[in-house]
Amino acid sequence: MALQISATNPEHPTLLLDLPWHLPLEQWPDKHLVPLPRGISRHVVRYARAGDEIIAVKELAERPAVREYEMLRTLDRLAIPAVDPLAVVTGRVDADQEPLQPVLITRHLQGSQPYRSMFETTMRPDTVHRLMDALAVLLVRLHLVGFAWGDCSLSNTLFRRDAGAYAAYLVDAETAETHQRLSDGQRAYDIELAQVNISGEMLDLEASGALHPSLDPIAFGTDIGRRYEELWSELTRVSVYPAGKHHYIERRIRRLNDLGFDVAEMQIGHEANGDTVTFVPKVVDAGHHQRQLLRLTGLDTEENQARRLLRDLECWMATQDDYAPGDPATRSRTHADPAGAQGARPEVLAHRWVREVFRPTVRAVPEEHRRGLDPAELYHELLEHHWYLSQRSQHDVALDAAVADYVRTVTHQPDTRA
Ligand SMILES: Nc1ncnc2c1ncn2[C@@H]1O[C@H](COP(=O)(O)OP(=O)(O)OP(=O)(O)O)[C@@H](O)[C@H]1O
Ligand SMILES: [Mg+2]
Repeated sequence: MALQISATNPEHPTLLLDLPWHLPLEQWPDKHLVPLPRGISRHVVRYARAGDEIIAVKELAERPAVREYEMLRTLDRLAIPAVDPLAVVTGRVDADQEPLQPVLITRHLQGSQPYRSMFETTMRPDTVHRLMDALAVLLVRLHLVGFAWGDCSLSNTLFRRDAGAYAAYLVDAETAETHQRLSDGQRAYDIELAQVNISGEMLDLEASGALHPSLDPIAFGTDIGRRYEELWSELTRVSVYPAGKHHYIERRIRRLNDLGFDVAEMQIGHEANGDTVTFVPKVVDAGHHQRQLLRLTGLDTEENQARRLLRDLECWMATQDDYAPGDPATRSRTHADPAGAQGARPEVLAHRWVREVFRPTVRAVPEEHRRGLDPAELYHELLEHHWYLSQRSQHDVALDAAVADYVRTVTHQPDTRA
């Protein structure tokens, strides 16, 4: 059987051909490998270089490899945060023509960290809570599109920084199943698995002395259920309003927006007696602020980063002479209206902000001081630092002074990020 590479992108097979497929993954020479932190796994996983890209290579049997590849492709189509599948390599043989296990190749998720390396220096309880919140959001998003994870755990998740919080990405889809819709029983089972897994991982961390003493491993694992249920119910519950109080619906939609979700489809019904109206969001899409920021500026960021950047953009717009007040996002949708026409279009102002504020601010931090942070995260840190300095000195410190101070005082800290 000949070596076979099935890939999503036609460029990848040629880059991948240079890798030593005739060697078991454990014996790959260092020159191909990238020493980044990995989570715990049953299979052999290594990071390797393919052209300019860093890839994660996982050795496993053919059927699960193909299955996981397809699952990750489906998740990608559904816009769920998960690692990007690149290829499956089958038909590997060693120098003696003995068969070797196939591999699944995914793109290394830039700026991500497995939870173990994040816990290496004992994490503040606050930070652990944020990780769990991110994981609950991921689980809810999966369930909304009919995806049962089957093995939700910290080690099957990767975390990326997101403006002081975290964004969780699914990394292991081997046990996942897709359905048209999940029943309550299927959801409950998935959460139960998550609770058992997370409690186990927390106990493990406790045993190795990496868990903050104030955190109870079992209670903490169980708590993922509460976080999940709160969000699930907020997103899916039916609300009943007195007839004529349509602003209640508006209010519910705004609350969902604040949580980072858009209502793409809703169901509104009148009760038979005509006194009440029921409202239920039927399709909710995550990424409310992400989409707004992308539309206005072309910047593609995580959700909380987008929220932070939009707030800064709005403040900046308010200081511009040709600014017409209002929500930049709604104005961009209705810019045909005459009130908006008096000021510059929000997109025009937003692009100016990118050119004159965002980019120059980020560029003011020399590359070697950026610690691998992506521009949006770096900008968020700069805003935080600016705020902190202004608070401390009780007056508004200039942004460029704050950036200079950030470079001097903050970025010399040891970098543990990829
Ligand atoms: N694309 C990627 N980007 C970054 N890290 C990755 C990627 N793919 C895998 N990893 C790392 O490798 C680890 C193991 O991957 P994975 O969970 O898929 O292996 P596994 O053997 O199937 O795990 P399990 O023991 O849960 O079955 C992950 O926890 C993660 O740290
Ligand atoms: Mg795993």
